[in-house]
Amino acid sequence: MWDTLWLEVNLATMTSGGPPFGEILDGAVGIEGGRLAFVGPCDRLPGEPGGLAKEVREGRGCWMTPGLIDCHTHLVYGGNRAGEFEKRLRGVSYEEIARAGGGILSTVKATRTADEAELLMSAEERLADLRSEGVTTVEIKSGYGLNLETELKMLRVARRLSERAEVTVKTTLLGAHALPPEFFGRPDAYIDLICDEMIPAAADLNLADAVDAFCENIGFSVQQVERVFQAAGNRNLPVKLHAEQLSDQGGAALAARYGALSADHLEYVSEAGVRAMAEAGTLAVLLPGAFHMLQEKQKPPVALFRRHGVPIALSTDCNPGSSPVTSLLLMLNMACVLFGLTVEEALAGVTREAARALGMDRSHGTLEVGKVADLVLWEIEGPADLAYRLGASPCREVARNGLTVLRRG
Ligand code: NIG
Ligand code: FE
Repeated sequence: MWDTLWLEVNLATMTSGGPPFGEILDGAVGIEGGRLAFVGPCDRLPGEPGGLAKEVREGRGCWMTPGLIDCHTHLVYGGNRAGEFEKRLRGVSYEEIARAGGGILSTVKATRTADEAELLMSAEERLADLRSEGVTTVEIKSGYGLNLETELKMLRVARRLSERAEVTVKTTLLGAHALPPEFFGRPDAYIDLICDEMIPAAADLNLADAVDAFCENIGFSVQQVERVFQAAGNRNLPVKLHAEQLSDQGGAALAARYGALSADHLEYVSEAGVRAMAEAGTLAVLLPGAFHMLQEKQKPPVALFRRHGVPIALSTDCNPGSSPVTSLLLMLNMACVLFGLTVEEALAGVTREAARALGMDRSHGTLEVGKVADLVLWEIEGPADLAYRLGASPCREVARNGLTVLRRG
């Protein structure tokens, strides 16, 4: 006996190689022990519904997708930077604000002074927004501490969120996000601190699932990031990189050389960088919220990613500076309208490919027998509605590990 059987649901399984969206109309889904035990058309069920499962649920023609995965966020932070947003509207650039000691560093001040309870509470509110739209897995980076104590504090809060909020959390140490004021003029000494103390401590305490860095004029050089990647490799931690967001630094090629899970942003990536990513199997994570908020003009080269076969994931980049976004559905729309993705590419970018970007594609990201039963029920006419309707909330029910964690309407 299965625990639950869903009947009369249209499935966007998001498996590749078959029909668009891996679609199965008039489908059924069986769940047992938190895993998918059956995914197929209703008329292929191996028996009478009542005899197959303890609980039978009617989907009434709703659509079901895998639980959404937000694979790049800075969800845990203190403070607010709406004032900087107003400055940017008056023509001051993101880079100018950062060079004047604002930007990331203003969030660092607020995050250092906030205690864990405060950080947890504000992050929980943002997470609630994401969850209300079907997000069941979220990646959360540190990077607003920039000292050992606060980086670990952020990672601990991220881990606690996963215990409290019925969401799967992957944590990423982003010590190399900006140069903290106490290290001004001594960036290499700060890199020493990351390599010698932060990475080993995060690894020993099992607080980080991966390591990230910001490779940019206002961040760190390829040489500095390479040292961080080596230290991560010494502790068997996978790497990823904020690369080519504001200029071409050769970060994507570096990420590829270290077998990175993903290179993220990529507005300024060169064709050589894209080719290197393709060869290494490094995904492109596109962040249309940051592109929009910073009023970027240069788009990430989607045609090159397609031509070279680089898979594309999508994320909110939820952070207080460049992307104060807590709607992954909005990112579907922006990726289609601003970057020219198809709806299918966009939806794959927050399911199958996002799972791959987090190294969890064996267990998550598609509706397939054996995978974890993270799923969302949507009251929509078809998958395109998810990218088409701005501000709609068609999410009706969310299950994580087979258990209902949200039910609406
Ligand atoms: O992904 N680019 C660097 N990091 C973040 C922005 C962080 C911030 O402005 O606070 C990003 O866009
Ligand atoms: Fe980011």
